[in-house]
Amino acid sequence: MIRGLENVSVLTHISMLFLTTIMSIFAFGNPFFLLTISLPYLIFYMIDRSPGNGEVMRFRFNWWKNLPIWKYYCRYFQLKIEKTKHLESTFDSTNSGKLNGSNPITYIFGYHPHGIAALASFGLTNNGCDFDTKFPGIKMSLLTLTNNFQLPFYREYLLLSGLSSVSKKNILKLLENYISVCLVPGGAKESLAIDFSGNKINLVLKNRKGFVKIAITNTKNGRRTALVPIFSFGENELYKVVKAKEGSFLKNLQLWLKNNIGFTIPIFFGRGIWNADFGLMPYREKVTMVFGNPIEINLDNFEESSEETVVNHFHHLYIEELLKIFNENKDKYGYQNKVINFVD
Ligand SMILES: *[C@@H]1O[C@H](CO)[C@@H](O)[C@H](O)[C@H]1NC(C)=O
Repeated sequence: MIRGLENVSVLTHISMLFLTTIMSIFAFGNPFFLLTISLPYLIFYMIDRSPGNGEVMRFRFNWWKNLPIWKYYCRYFQLKIEKTKHLESTFDSTNSGKLNGSNPITYIFGYHPHGIAALASFGLTNNGCDFDTKFPGIKMSLLTLTNNFQLPFYREYLLLSGLSSVSKKNILKLLENYISVCLVPGGAKESLAIDFSGNKINLVLKNRKGFVKIAITNTKNGRRTALVPIFSFGENELYKVVKAKEGSFLKNLQLWLKNNIGFTIPIFFGRGIWNADFGLMPYREKVTMVFGNPIEINLDNFEESSEETVVNHFHHLYIEELLKIFNENKDKYGYQNKVINFVD
């Protein structure tokens, strides 16, 4: 029974893009729905700029955050948040509207690795694994590609779940309103770099510095900002990836796609609902997200330095903290034979 509910919640989430596409076809293809629902919706769709304007919190409702489905979603992965350190609150935890003091801190969380679909990171955004209880007084928006917000109805699903666009403009607006953000610096590129059969955790991070720059900009605007790395043990194991052999048809196809349209799609599979051998459901692997120590941006000693020096300095500290939480926890979570490997 419980397993069934867990399956339903994960299945709902991974099929949401498909379900909302079907909804759109009905909504726009049927004259009755078109007049009653779709046209008013279309007007809203065209006017509403919340995903890119730092306004996602307008869509955050406690009843949605606390829906039982999110609890079952997290239970599927035995998903847990583990903190290394208490994070200072941004908002007064007794009265969620009020700021904690005159100069509260805001966070940029970085989630690693991306895995195939960063499924576990979704557990952070609603209250399924108690983010709000673990980090009281911190409001957070999980960030995803802007294109996702162009899809009718899917965008509302994301907005209700606290997701917004990973654009620079949106992030700066959110931080201005003291809303913390969580992003996945490795992006889709990292999902292509998964080394499933080997022992490497390939991370695309060396040249991904945009989030550090944004933290520095926000600090220069007079707001305290900290970077917090998250390492998610288990995220990479949720799907198996088919590694194409050199010279095989699949490898050639992937190379062709990469050269001609600029990206390629990993071939992956998971389990079925009733069988463990094949399907698109993720494996029931245990996932633990370890949060590192916050790295607060302090520019006091950098008045004379070039922007590049400052960015590299904090980017380096961030990577060190990420490696530290990985190395200190890997034995506990069955990663003793694995190493982090930075790729381009
Ligand atoms: C509120 O902010 C102060 C620093 O300004 C900090 O020391 C304190 O721990 C914060 N409160 C909570 C509950 O985190």
